[in-house]
Amino acid sequence: MAYVARDDRPADKATRYAEVEAEILAVLDGEPNLGARMATVSSMLADAFPVFFWTGFYVVDLTKSDELVVGPYQGTLGCLRIAFGRGVCGTAASTRQTQIVEDVHAFPGHIACDSRSASEIVVPVLDASGALIAVFDIDATEKAAFDAVDAGALERLLGKVFAA
Ligand code: SME
Repeated sequence: MAYVARDDRPADKATRYAEVEAEILAVLDGEPNLGARMATVSSMLADAFPVFFWTGFYVVDLTKSDELVVGPYQGTLGCLRIAFGRGVCGTAASTRQTQIVEDVHAFPGHIACDSRSASEIVVPVLDASGALIAVFDIDATEKAAFDAVDAGALERLLGKVFAA
């Protein structure tokens, strides 16, 4: 992505992620509630990069373990439920691998919640025992907004927030 820094922010996105990670960990220090942790991550990341259009969690449904249900998010209305294996989120859940999609309209089975979404990244979220508890989805208004820098930074952040 052509990361555009604001005047008050660092020139590269790895540094920006490191800043936001430190801010999120400081806010969450001592807060055990999972909903509060997810809401805080969604909110603070939504505000961190201008091209982020939708940031949020789909959590593993405790009553249907092969289905995701929407959790805390920032953005326009997201679909409520996604079966494992469906779309980008369901693929991340079933493979437990981070998915980077440069053009969502070219992704087979992509679930279109909002036509402004052009590219996305979805990262599996594991707890301290290694169990999948959710996936974290970021959609961007530009094509090819995400790369290995985003994947590495988000995997590290989510590991610190949910698996530590
Ligand atoms: N794009 C996702 C659906 C969720 S929304 O983008 C909020 C997918 O295909 O999994």
